[in-house]
Amino acid sequence: MKPSFYVTTPIYYVNDVPHIGHAYTTVAGDVLARYKRLMGYDVYFLTGSDEHGQKVEKAATTAGETPLELADRVVKRYQALWERLGISNNDFIRTTQERHKKGVAHIFKDILDKGDIYLGEYEDWYCTPCETFWPETQLIEDRCPDCNRPVEKLKEESYFFRMSKYQEQLLAHIEANPEFIQPKSKRNEIISFVKDGLRDLSVSRTTFTWGIPVPGNDKHIIYVWFDALTNYMTALGYPEATDNYRNFWPANVHLIGKDILRFHAVYWPTFLMAAGLPLPEKVFAHGWWTVEGQKMSKSLQNVVEPNMLIDKYGVDVVRYFLLREVPFGLDGDFSHAALVQRLNSDLANDLGNLLSRSTAMAVKYFDGILPAPAELADIDQGLKKKTTDMIDHVDACMDDLAFSKALQAVWEVVSAGNKYIDESAPWTLAKDPNQKDRLATVMYCLLESQRIVHVLLSAFIPATSEKALTSLGCQCKVEKADLDWGGLQAGTTIIKAEALFPRMEG
Ligand code: ME8
Ligand code: MG
Repeated sequence: MKPSFYVTTPIYYVNDVPHIGHAYTTVAGDVLARYKRLMGYDVYFLTGSDEHGQKVEKAATTAGETPLELADRVVKRYQALWERLGISNNDFIRTTQERHKKGVAHIFKDILDKGDIYLGEYEDWYCTPCETFWPETQLIEDRCPDCNRPVEKLKEESYFFRMSKYQEQLLAHIEANPEFIQPKSKRNEIISFVKDGLRDLSVSRTTFTWGIPVPGNDKHIIYVWFDALTNYMTALGYPEATDNYRNFWPANVHLIGKDILRFHAVYWPTFLMAAGLPLPEKVFAHGWWTVEGQKMSKSLQNVVEPNMLIDKYGVDVVRYFLLREVPFGLDGDFSHAALVQRLNSDLANDLGNLLSRSTAMAVKYFDGILPAPAELADIDQGLKKKTTDMIDHVDACMDDLAFSKALQAVWEVVSAGNKYIDESAPWTLAKDPNQKDRLATVMYCLLESQRIVHVLLSAFIPATSEKALTSLGCQCKVEKADLDWGGLQAGTTIIKAEALFPRMEG
């Protein structure tokens, strides 16, 4: 049986339209999912939408719609974008679906029955855009410490989750599992947050109605984060012990942005502890994109719309740029100039040129019929070793979610391929009939190295890799065995590749 792998993205709020920040997490999840499928895992890749809460209720009122009308409309924009971006999610969960509401009510009631949710009274400062309560001591100049917007004083009867009870257990778990929260800098922030003390958490609201009612007391609506986090299990069928639930829970990794780490690394694990359920293996918080040096915001009108980027540059350029430009876990800056630079140099010059040069030579010197290699000389062995060594190197990077490093490792082989052409000078070999075997060997190694490169790259830039593999005459299913040297069969028809990426003016 295949080992299983479960990766999730956050479920996005429907009061906003998708931008490059949302695309970032989702593309990262997709690359990881495709990579693990390639490596032989049974993968479940989940994304979805977060549709309840006061924020969505307010946005709907402003738009003159019901919250569900708003959600139905916005969710289509997410789904259409994921389609265009080639996102291979297995499922898309909406928190307004019955399967989700049922599961949330179940886990809430379960924790209530066990005594770790109780009814009390709440009075504190509330930030509506963040859907977060803040104690007075944490406000910064009377404003929300996260988003710097005004907060309001709320007093209400509320259910509380006994989060304080799990402080030590959570700390012990974080300390015993160094990989649980990543990257390390973020892990340290969470450790000090937990050490400062966990307060019991308000997990219901009575001030609005758009959400899932507390079982047995429907004056109360379940806190939107309690509702949202549970999506990672309800999508699998929880509380039913479905095949998916048994195969895929606990998740291998929750991919999130650093803005929502506390919810995933403190709230979610303690909810699960209270319910007696296993915790996700890893929560990875990536960094934040700014745009041309500035915070991305509606008021600055600098929100980068992924559809516009795809129209202008093509889907794989966007996918490649997002994961190559910034090490996963660090903040980064989006600029058109940086994107065009990556397009021209990495994609058009290095990768695209290599393929068009090599396939053109195969057509010219062998009428496109791939010759069998003779014995490999040192220079050929060098290229072969670089290519096969890359596979373990990339695998180690992918384990660490170091997407950018993984791509660098692939590009070292791409550069080696370009250098190999220059050094083995096929055009000189072609002039000498006695060098026919030598030329055959060079062509074989050159094309075989690229076949393996494109099998790996199918996780990152799937549409491009498919084109490349087609011109290499490779009909492989793109699975782990296709990473072995020697997969390309002599006699295969090679087709001269068109430019994979057109260069653009900066
Ligand atoms: O927080 N740079 O949804 P959301 C990088 N519904 N990533 C960014 C980004 C930026 N500038 N802006 C947004 C929510 N993101 C909740 C999640 S999960 C149970 C509930 C990405 O629509 C990043 O992944 O506000 C961030 O965590 C997510 O979008 C927030 O999306
Ligand atoms: Mg947000």
